[in-house]
Amino acid sequence: MTDRELINRATQATKNAYMPYSKFAVGAALECSDGSVYTGCNIENAALGCTVCAERVAIFKAVSEGKRSFRRIAIYANSSQYCVPCGVCRQVMQEFSPDMELLCARSDGRYVSYPLGRLLPSPFGKEFL
Ligand code: THU
Repeated sequence: MTDRELINRATQATKNAYMPYSKFAVGAALECSDGSVYTGCNIENAALGCTVCAERVAIFKAVSEGKRSFRRIAIYANSSQYCVPCGVCRQVMQEFSPDMELLCARSDGRYVSYPLGRLLPSPFGKEFL
């Protein structure tokens, strides 16, 4: 799958975003090492701390289906800024695939890519336990 195709999947995933509080729709498309793709959108809650980001929805869908190794994740928001993941999502990515790549897209279709290690240097991991 090309970068553009993965970003298109993330863009489509924003359709189901449940974001009545922030009005900020986010979509994610996660490509697993076996080539399968899982999508997610943000899901908010009146108790704001219960909100889950699009990236974690996609990752948890994949993990719950037995996938634990990921190549790339595309993240899209209808925004003039590239949508980069929050710290919690970075840490969840790190748990499964420290070498994965992130494609962070914005509404004009442009995107930037980062290796996860650049966005989460010196991570806490299983080797500490
Ligand atoms: N959000 C995501 O889903 N992913 C990100 O990368 C950044 C933030 C969501 C959480 C919340 O529903 C809304 O965007 C505003 O923070």
